[in-house]
Parts: sequence; structure tokens; C-alpha cells
Amino acid sequence: MSFLANLDWRCATKKFDQNRQVSATDLNKILEAVRLAPTSFGLQAFHLTVVENRPENTEKLQALKAAAWDQNQIDSCSHLLVFSARTDSAVVVDEHFTRLSGGDLEKRRQFAAYEERVTSSLPNLNLEWAKKQTYILLGFALAAAAELQIDSCPMEGFDHDKFQEILALPKNLSVSVILPIGYRLPDETIRPKHRLPKEKLISVI
Ligand SMILES: Cc1cc2nc3c(=O)[nH]c(=O)nc-3n(C[C@H](O)[C@H](O)[C@H](O)COP(=O)(O)O)c2cc1C
Repeated sequence: MSFLANLDWRCATKKFDQNRQVSATDLNKILEAVRLAPTSFGLQAFHLTVVENRPENTEKLQALKAAAWDQNQIDSCSHLLVFSARTDSAVVVDEHFTRLSGGDLEKRRQFAAYEERVTSSLPNLNLEWAKKQTYILLGFALAAAAELQIDSCPMEGFDHDKFQEILALPKNLSVSVILPIGYRLPDETIRPKHRLPKEKLISVI
């Protein structure tokens, strides 16, 4: 199917088929789409936590579900993708230039002007900025899943602090948005797509 047909096929799946797991191969394709997503300055100020739906994680998934208004996606999905923004952008910038220079100080000096430009932007590279990046990743993951005919549901309806606590995420991460993935139930009634007409949403000038 074409990219647009895949987007038309996908829907925010409310409950997944618990008898079907996303294969490791397909999961890796979705994760690779996340890794390849563009980020501001290429800084990749994010972390993705993948919670697999397996017996060892049942308790954790139940706790996460309770922290997400008991929405069924959380414990019926095959994998729960939790996107977090990095809160330590100065460290992110330093890591980035260390990586670019391969730890070679002379090489790093060659990037000095660019590093200065990025460093001088640090006041703007705040949590809001980092969280925006995670939504680009979300879009890439969602589209990659649709291409594989894997269902998903983008979700913001959860208690971010509780998720942080349950997943024991370090202080330099802040949970932003989640994407459970899996397969819709065979008898799932697909809600018709409700979208405004192009003319209402888009102007070409
Ligand atoms: C950022 C974001 C957050 C959302 N949060 C939730 C959520 O917490 N629970 C839920 O059931 N759906 C959630 N949705 C799904 C939307 O309700 C859904 O995408 C929208 O109604 C359009 O339907 P469709 O995705 O099936 O085309 C969210 C969607 C987005 C993009």
C-alpha cells in the first residue's frame, strides 16, 4: 500500500489483540524509524523506553494502566513505546560534539564556531523544545507501524509523573508521549475517519 493508503488504514486503536505479538524484526523496523527521525541540530535529546508485554512486566503494565485512566491500550498492546525528552540539554550538546569529533580535541576545534552557535542557543533548548522533538519521533513510529500493518495509538492521556516513577526513569528524562503498538482485534469496529476538508486546514499562498 502507498504511504497515504497506510495512513488511511491506521486508526487510534483502543484495544489490542492479546494473542498477537509484534515480531522482533518488525519492532526493530519501527525503532529504526525512530532512530532515523530528524531532530533539532541533530542533537537527539530523547530516550525511548520499550516495555514488552511479557509476564515479568504484567505488574508494571497494570500500574501504568492505572496511571493512564485505565485505558485498555496499555495492558493489551504488544509493546508500549514511551518517549521521553532529555532535560539536560547542556550535557546533550557536549555529548553531541564529543561524538562528532570522536573525542579528538583538534577535530572538535574545527567545529568550534558551530558548537558556539548551538551552545549559545542553550537557553532555548529547554524542556518544551525537547518535548517537541519527541512528537516527531512519535509520527515516524506511527507511520512506520502503519506501513507494517501494525496498529498503534498515540497517547497523552496519562499521569506523566506516575509513569516516570513506575518506570524508574532517571532525573534527566521527562516522559512526553506514549505509543502502544500491536494488532487490532479481529472484530474491531473501525470508526470512520473524521477529518476537516483540506480547504479548512490548509492555505496555499
Ligand atoms: C498527541 C495525541 C494524544 C492522544 N491521546 C490519546 C489518548 O490518551 N487516548 C486515546 O484513546 N487516544 C488518544 N489519541 C488518539 C486521537 O484521539 C486520535 O488520533 C484522533 O481521534 C483521530 O483518530 P484516528 O487516529 O483513528 O484517525 C491521541 C492522539 C494524539 C495525536
